[in-house]
Formats: sequence, structure tokens, C-alpha cells
Amino acid sequence: MSGRRACLFSVLLSLLLLQGSAFVEELDDSFMETKGSDEIWLIEFYAPWCSFCKQLDPVWHEIGSELRSLGSMVQVGKSDATVSTGLAKEFRVRTYPAILMLKKNTKYNYAGPRTKEGIMDFANRMEGPVVRSLSSPQLFQHAMSHHNVMFVYVGATSELKGNFTTVAEELIVHTHFFSTTRDVLPKSVSLDYLPAIVVFKDRTYLTYDEESDGDLKAWINRERFLNFQHIDSYTLYAMGESGKLVLLALVEERHLCSKSLRYKHLVERVAEEHKETYSRFFLFGFMAAGDYINGFVMGEVTVPSLIAVNLSNDGYYQPAGPVETERQLLDFLDGVLDGTIEMKGGNGFSQRVQRVIYETKATVIPVFRDAPLIGCFLAGFPLAIGAFFCFLCCRNQTIPDDDEDTAALLASSVPQRKKIKNKKSD
Ligand SMILES: *[C@@H]1O[C@H](CO)[C@@H](O)[C@H](O)[C@H]1NC(C)=O
Ligand SMILES: *[C@@H]1O[C@H](CO)[C@@H](O)[C@H](O)[C@H]1NC(C)=O
Repeated sequence: MSGRRACLFSVLLSLLLLQGSAFVEELDDSFMETKGSDEIWLIEFYAPWCSFCKQLDPVWHEIGSELRSLGSMVQVGKSDATVSTGLAKEFRVRTYPAILMLKKNTKYNYAGPRTKEGIMDFANRMEGPVVRSLSSPQLFQHAMSHHNVMFVYVGATSELKGNFTTVAEELIVHTHFFSTTRDVLPKSVSLDYLPAIVVFKDRTYLTYDEESDGDLKAWINRERFLNFQHIDSYTLYAMGESGKLVLLALVEERHLCSKSLRYKHLVERVAEEHKETYSRFFLFGFMAAGDYINGFVMGEVTVPSLIAVNLSNDGYYQPAGPVETERQLLDFLDGVLDGTIEMKGGNGFSQRVQRVIYETKATVIPVFRDAPLIGCFLAGFPLAIGAFFCFLCCRNQTIPDDDEDTAALLASSVPQRKKIKNKKSD
């Protein structure tokens, strides 16, 4: 009797599991030939040895089932990039887990945080038209309540709208684009001219002015971040495109101590109250101290602490003394801007050499610590291969091809500085 029940139970369980995995399809090299031309696919490329991929796995299944139950057009798949190498090459996968969207034969690289919310938001955004029309004040309010940052074209069809749509096609991976007419916007929004492009964020709005703001795409890249926000390594990396410096309160991963909370609030207050003065030069936020920022300074950062980073040249600034008051923080910001505070790091030659050494150490040491045997093997293997190639070279005077797969072996989920481009690729 109980044996029967257990059997029934296991059948039910496997049915449930089957149903769960049915929302995520395993894709192989035949995918590009067998998919329909109108299909939209959200694909995770993983590698069996990548621990970040394993962490993402349950999230990926939740995303699959949730998109299905929402009736989304987006189909969810995953592919073992070490097995389906042809597909991975087609999508130019370099790091794991890589998340890409395929829509009408165009590939879009997801560059946001590896969280369910972030990825779901991306999938929903990519599913519909690039520029969505807001035809009533209700729809406008609805959009406002769902998006922290939104770019809105206001007016009739024009050359500017064409330009807006072109930029939206490229930057849709990062943010939201809408179009509407003047009468849909609240009366409190004042526009000097039409057509206009307006960004709504930080409980206010800004209007694009070609003369003073320059290139539309560059302006959108500058303005697509909140003035103050939680920042993870993906966001920080993407913030490089804004050309602004980023002021960070570095805090604990969770359970902030009271001093961390003080730092976080101080940065938030200064960001808000001095927006007029500093938002042209700085983005503000708080970030959990960890591998990415330690890699940036090539050392261990103090927690909590403040740091300003220039992502264009990998330079950073740290306050010389304690920063407890608003005045001290403002002095620090001014010092960074006028150059009285010395920049550390950077991308000069000696810094680059140091970085290579640091990154090699950071990759190799944990392997030796956690699994000395594998470590020896990993270290010994390339050496043996190297020796073998040397032997071949000496014999035949031929040069072996670069093998991209070895580079992928060292890749982690943290974005690699200056290597990935967040642009769409086709
Ligand atoms: C649209 O873009 C083109 C080229 O990028 C530019 O020359 C033109 O001034 C833009 N038009 C408007 C109305 O902004
Ligand atoms: C950040 O780095 C870029 C590239 O080197 C440089 O042009 C820019 O002036 C730097 N910003 C500040 C505020 O130092």
C-alpha cells in the first residue's frame, strides 16, 4: 500500500517537475534552423562548471513559468555553451551566464542585474514595440507608476521622432521609451516647444535640448540612471557609458550596520539636495562591497566607506579623512572635481600590469585553496599544452590558433572590464 502511494507520489512529482522544466527549453546547435522567424527568445547560455549559472537556474525556471502564465510571447530557453558551441558562437557568448534576447533575427545582450525582477522587466520591455504609445492620461500614469526612468517623445510625427526611434532600437535593452501627445501629459509638465523629448525620473523631468545637450543617444546614456540608486556590478559597469563619475557608499551585502546606514543616507541626501550642482558630474548610490569593487581598487576596501570612481579610466578617489557631515561630503566632491584630491588607480601602463597580476591571483588562488588537486591540474594543464605547442612550433615553425574557449574558462559572472559591450549585436 505505502509502496504504491510512494510510487504515485513520485509519478506526480516527476509530472510536476516535467511541467516546470517544460517552460524552459534546452536549445542546441539546430536552434537557428528550427525556430520560427517571428519568435522571440530569451536565452541563457551556461557552462556546467559555472557556479553563478547554478544560482541562476531556479530563477530561470521561475521566469519561464511566469512568462508563460502571463501569456507572454517570449519563449525561454537555455543552452549549454560548452556543448552547443555553434550556437554560443553565433550569439558571441564570452562570459557565463550570458543572457540574450533574439527578436526578429536581431540579438540583444542583457546587461542588467541577474535578478528575477531585472530579467522579467527586460523580457517585458523587449516583447512589445520599441517605442510604446501612451494614448491617455491613465496609460501615462500607469507607465509612470511602473518605471523609475522613462523617455517620452511628445508631439506629432517628425524627424526628431525618427531619431528617437533609432536610438530607442539600440538602447531598449537598458530603458523604456514611449511616445505621446501634449494633452496626455499632466498640466504641471511645462514644455517650451514641440516636438520634445522628456525624461521622467527622480520625481521630476528634464527636457532634451539638442543645442545644449548634444547628441541624442549620448544624452539618453547620460540620463538613463537614477540620481541615487542601489548599484550592483552590472549597473556600475553600464554607468561608464554615462561619462559621469559615480559616488558610492560601500556597505555590507545585507544587514547594514548603523554606520553604513548613516553613509547611505548621507549620500542619498546630498544627491537629492544638491542635484542642481552635482548631477551633471556624478551619479550616486550604494553598493555591497565585494569582488568587483575590490578588483577595481586591487585590494580590500573598508566597509563602510565612500569612494568616487571614474569608469572611463578606472581611476578612483577616496576621502583623506572621516566623512560624517554633509559639508565634508561636499568638500570631497569638490575636491574630486577640481583635482585637489589625488586620483588613484587608472589605466596607465603600470596600473594595467598590476591589474593583470591582481586578476590572475584572484582567479588562481581560490582554486588552489578550495581544490588543490584541480588547481594543480589547471595550472599544469596549460603548462603541458604550452610545452607541447613549443615543441610543435620548434619542429614545424607553425603558430597555433588562438583558442577562444580557454578565455571563456576564466570568465566569471562579474562583467569583465572593457570587454563586453552592452550594445545590440546583429
Ligand atoms: C536627427 O539626426 C540627424 C543625424 O544624426 C541630425 O543631423 C538631425 O539634426 C536630427 N534631427 C533632429 C530634429 O534632431
Ligand atoms: C574621467 O576619465 C576621463 C578619461 O580619462 C577623463 O577625460 C575625465 O576628465 C575624468 N573625469 C574626471 C572628473 O576626472
